[in-house]
Amino acid sequence: MAPSDRPHRSGGAEPETTPGPPASGAVSDRAADLVAALAGLKAEAEQQIRSAADGDALQRLKTDYLGRKAGRVSAILKALPSLEAEARRTVGQAANDAKAAIEQLLASAEAEHAARAAPPAGDLTMPARPAWRGALHPVTLVATEICEIFHELGFTRAVGPEAETERNNFTALNFPPGHPALDMQPTFYLGTGALLRSHTSPVQIRVMEAYRPPIRVTIPGRCYRRDPFDASHAPVFTQVEGLCVDEGISFVDLKAAITFFARRFFAAGVNVRFRPSFFPFTEPSAEVDVECQLCHGSGCPACKGTGWMEILGCGMVDPAVFENVGVDPERYTGWAFGMGLDRAAMVRYGIPDIRLLFEADMRFHRQFVGSV
Ligand code: DAH
Repeated sequence: MAPSDRPHRSGGAEPETTPGPPASGAVSDRAADLVAALAGLKAEAEQQIRSAADGDALQRLKTDYLGRKAGRVSAILKALPSLEAEARRTVGQAANDAKAAIEQLLASAEAEHAARAAPPAGDLTMPARPAWRGALHPVTLVATEICEIFHELGFTRAVGPEAETERNNFTALNFPPGHPALDMQPTFYLGTGALLRSHTSPVQIRVMEAYRPPIRVTIPGRCYRRDPFDASHAPVFTQVEGLCVDEGISFVDLKAAITFFARRFFAAGVNVRFRPSFFPFTEPSAEVDVECQLCHGSGCPACKGTGWMEILGCGMVDPAVFENVGVDPERYTGWAFGMGLDRAAMVRYGIPDIRLLFEADMRFHRQFVGSV
């Protein structure tokens, strides 16, 4: 048969081979496979870590997955050098992420196992130590009680600073400069007209300059005098001041209010007496005594045999004080009192030495827990 007779094959050529994918595509597929393998590895590790029985099992998993030579992550990384730069980066990144995730899972599982395995700290059968409970200071307790008794009579509370002006502490309260009444209050002067207040009376001045009458306030606060520190004196002490200013207020109101207070604070029906006295800021002035709460009037060492205990000073507000603060003395009258709280607390709680109030001895203060 002549060559020309050979059957003619269409196209007259060898069957075309299917062209392979471009080289880079092949690498991407490998990379995708490796990334998927890493994800699978991570999932598998997670599951095994979760069900690991103890720390030893976790250690074995760590070697199995993360071991540098024979670890399963390393096995995958062995393929890196044969990859193209970009694929290498992708797979490398995925491997690092998988490694970090597995490390993290291992660490938290290890911590859990360790916590479970650790013996409990201390003896759980030991009874709990009672928690510390705070207490209010006895002086705070009596201050609150006194202000509450006067609150029933319509008094609100006011406070003022412990560092005062000489004017508020003395001059406006009608102490003339150099007057012997100043000697009753040995004072800590701070210089340039300032001092540590020697009583709570300067707050009367502040209140009357800030508010118009009618005024009814109690003023608790700390005061300072150059006194010795012994069983019955302290250079720091606490007072409560009272001030009532209105139209038509008389000495009768003063006596009634103080007697009401004494019978509420000390004892129902307790005897109270008013003795004439002197204060520059009141006229007339009085000192008030209540029947000694220890001997009930028969005389004992605490009341120096008199049967009486001095509790406070008081009087009708001097018109000169009203003038100093711009209150019309023709229209208004008022009364005031000042009471030391340290001694009141000592009487109320049977405290024999004022220094106990300052010493912060817990055996002393613990006794007042729960007293409010
Ligand atoms: N401030 C006086 C003192 O500490 C006490 C006092 C007396 C206050 C009479 C008053 C008062 O308000 O009217 O010695």
